[in-house]
Amino acid sequence: MRGKRFVTRAGRPVAAVAVLTIGLVSPALAAPVGQPTLRQLGDGAGISIGSAVRDYAIQQDSRYAGLLGAQYGMATPENEMKWATVHPWPYVYNYGPADDIVSFAVAHHMQVRGHTLVWYQQNPTWLTNGAFNRSQLIAILKSHILNVVGHYRGKVSQWDVVNEAFDDHGHLRHDVWLDGIGPDYIAMAFRWAHQADPGAKLYYNDFGFEEGGAKADAIYSMVAGLRAQGVPIDGVGFQMHISDPDDFNSARLAGEMARFNRLGLAVAVTEMDVWLRPPGAGPMLDEEAGIFRGALADCRSAADCHTFVTWGFTDRYSWVSETSPPDGWALPFDSNYAPKPAVGAIEAALR
Ligand code: G3I
Repeated sequence: MRGKRFVTRAGRPVAAVAVLTIGLVSPALAAPVGQPTLRQLGDGAGISIGSAVRDYAIQQDSRYAGLLGAQYGMATPENEMKWATVHPWPYVYNYGPADDIVSFAVAHHMQVRGHTLVWYQQNPTWLTNGAFNRSQLIAILKSHILNVVGHYRGKVSQWDVVNEAFDDHGHLRHDVWLDGIGPDYIAMAFRWAHQADPGAKLYYNDFGFEEGGAKADAIYSMVAGLRAQGVPIDGVGFQMHISDPDDFNSARLAGEMARFNRLGLAVAVTEMDVWLRPPGAGPMLDEEAGIFRGALADCRSAADCHTFVTWGFTDRYSWVSETSPPDGWALPFDSNYAPKPAVGAIEAALR
């Protein structure tokens, strides 16, 4: 394990610079000779095929790095750009883990989705327990966004600027941002992100609204309002954590994507996984494959959906089995890196 590398506010390294141990593409894990990779199929269909990525897995697991670099065209740091990691103390930015992922992506000609600038989870206690007043919180949020987005200017093609601002009933969540600044924090965050990197596409990202309902309506009203005010928002991310395969409804997803597209916003699938219960085998894998295929087909058919990211790619590293056992088997490749039926389904949806 490499030591932590902190940088100052100005972004200058103060400790050892990362020695990149990038896993080069292992021929054994690339597509068989003559067969296109997921990424190549995605390029042909105009869709970036991506995965959430863990820095430690890139560093420690050459099979992980090899398959990722061979098959995927986009990387989202799973945790490494969140406040608790990247901004652990008031004037300390810790870019090492996220820099590793961005360097891996650059070396493998992958795009990066930045995740995430404003969220109610994974915030450092200096922030959440700081008892800051409104103007202090505004200054803290502005400084954070300008620093982080500025650090990755030109290297991150899409940012999840605000993540999961709404609860399941469509109400803004009470957190440090809403309670300390008020609902304006959302527009502020988008404006500062655009200021720091005018070339990055800026997204609002959330889960559990792909089939409509109060939460979807609240998100729709919010982003429509941002558009009307001239706030620089480019898209809406559908996370697509499908915790019950029976719940997936392709037609409703297509309908939701269409109405956000009609606002002039892009849509993207940003964190997809499909949770299976034990034994996670047999026909369940075919059902899972059908859901990945259905969601990707909806993205392909949408007026503006060019990003399809799963929340990891191998069952070896998945937040589902880690946090919600006995559920698991949620990703396209199994825990030994063999393709599950979902891989063929994704390929079919892209052909
Ligand atoms: O970094 C600490 C480590 O120091 C400590 O030893 C270890 C002990 O458990 O915990 C580590 O932190 C964990 C962190 O992931 C980094 O590995 C947290 O416990 C763990 O809760 C955290 O989980 C992440 C979760 O967000 C946090 O809520 C998941 O990996 C990550 O997949 C998940 O991702 C979110 C998206 O950002 C937003 N949408 C939902 C999605 C799933 O919850």
